[in-house]
Amino acid sequence: MLEDTDTNDDVWKSDRMVANWVAGTEERERRRGEQRRLMADLLPFEDDEPFTFVDLGAGTGAATRVVLDRFPRAEAILAEYSPQMTAEGRRALADYQGRFTYVEFDLAAGDWPDEVPTGVAAVISSMCVHHLPDRRKRELFSEIFEHLAPGGWYLNYDPVTTDDPLVEAAWLRAGDRQDPEAAAKRQHPSPEEQRRHENHVRYMIPLPLQLDFLRAAGFEAIDVYWKQLDYVIYGGRKPPQPGS
Ligand SMILES: C[S@@+](CC[C@H](N)C(=O)[O-])C[C@H]1O[C@@H](n2cnc3c(N)ncnc32)[C@H](O)[C@@H]1O
Repeated sequence: MLEDTDTNDDVWKSDRMVANWVAGTEERERRRGEQRRLMADLLPFEDDEPFTFVDLGAGTGAATRVVLDRFPRAEAILAEYSPQMTAEGRRALADYQGRFTYVEFDLAAGDWPDEVPTGVAAVISSMCVHHLPDRRKRELFSEIFEHLAPGGWYLNYDPVTTDDPLVEAAWLRAGDRQDPEAAAKRQHPSPEEQRRHENHVRYMIPLPLQLDFLRAAGFEAIDVYWKQLDYVIYGGRKPPQPGS
């Protein structure tokens, strides 16, 4: 039902919304540093190994930057559908010139651009898969599997929901105590914050379903590698070719 009334463009292709989002980057990334570094540490490469990875829904490249820092010979393909986020990202990644390419990709539509080759070593995504309807989440995980080299990893850092009201209340209680400002914003949002929130939660689903999608796509080594309240890092590996 919701799939017909998508508000995503109103948020991510709006100059004003993107400018506000970018203004909050420093504060957001202070909270997310540990999770970003863990995503990079989970990748199975030697420190000086050259490899190409794809960052889906890359935004301004916050996840990409940490992987590029962690692996100085890695190169990134950042897939993004918002011209505003892409322009901001090119600016934010100026120090990594020659090590990244932005490609236009609407993850909701599903036609992978030719610039994303098959056989990439790793795919990452953060804070983006929850913007896709379930059908696309499921399809996307299969498409990622197809684009990975054997032995390649997919990792996703994202918020999830729960079906259990008691769990939800516990998440809110602890979250509000940890960040009283966020609690105040939630209780008295501006019209813009309200629009962003509604867009943020509209396709968010519980974690077990997403792990099922990974399993159905064929991944192994599936795990929730990190979790705090409603935020998780999960992922898995495409099996290596037999005998390799
Ligand atoms: C919350 S931001 C996260 C950006 C970045 N991954 C990060 O962790 O900072 C969500 C990103 O997903 C992108 N996005 C939303 N829907 C998309 C779609 N259908 N196709 C591609 N990108 C999309 C937005 O433009 C935005 O850059």
